[in-house]
Amino acid sequence: MAQDSSRPDFWETRYRDHVTPWDAGRVPARLVQYAGEMKPGARVLIPGCGSGYEARFLAAAGFDVLAIDFSPAAVEAAQRNLGCFADRVQLADFFTFDAGAPFDVMFERAFLCALPRRMWPDYPERTAELLTPDGMIAGFWFFDDNVKGPPFGTSIEELHALLGTRFERISDEPAADSIPIFVAKERWQVWKKTGLGLDAASAA
Ligand SMILES: C[S@@+](CC[C@H](N)C(=O)[O-])C[C@H]1O[C@@H](n2cnc3c(N)ncnc32)[C@H](O)[C@@H]1O
Repeated sequence: MAQDSSRPDFWETRYRDHVTPWDAGRVPARLVQYAGEMKPGARVLIPGCGSGYEARFLAAAGFDVLAIDFSPAAVEAAQRNLGCFADRVQLADFFTFDAGAPFDVMFERAFLCALPRRMWPDYPERTAELLTPDGMIAGFWFFDDNVKGPPFGTSIEELHALLGTRFERISDEPAADSIPIFVAKERWQVWKKTGLGLDAASAA
């Protein structure tokens, strides 16, 4: 049971034991650059925020950021990190929480790859539901052919098949400042929500 990364206790144990090899301890340079292109005050969701470095950066830069994690220890760490912006962090499950207003951007880092592959089919639909009609997913994706995880790797083709049902990829480049466990295996990509899928069907 403790080996099932769909469960909060899988992550809780690791945060409490300080075994967090995914934790970069800093904001990726490519996010800083992308933030400069985002509309001022954009509403941004960070699912599975962990220690929340990106949330702190985006909040301080004036974005309307909400960072969520379903591990209480992660939320505590992120709230400590965010200081005066601690109210931007919530204990919540990405797949079930009530988000209120839709988001302009969702920032992805080590979230999809943290989920067991059996949960991946739920990710595009849930993300599309949380975003505005022209919303974006921006961030880092982990490419590997490993069987065991997390992190669970994907391939360019598999990610296309997964996200392509609801999103169109608008940029793709190697990540420049990966931490050791992701080096040469992650890429920065931005995906724009399309009008296809359930939204289009329900509007018809
Ligand atoms: C590998 S860690 C990455 C944390 C952070 N994004 C980072 O880059 O440091 C994955 C995180 O996702 C969280 N998580 C996994 N499934 C979740 C879910 N369904 N809802 C919210 N958080 C979730 C875990 O608790 C964990 O903090």
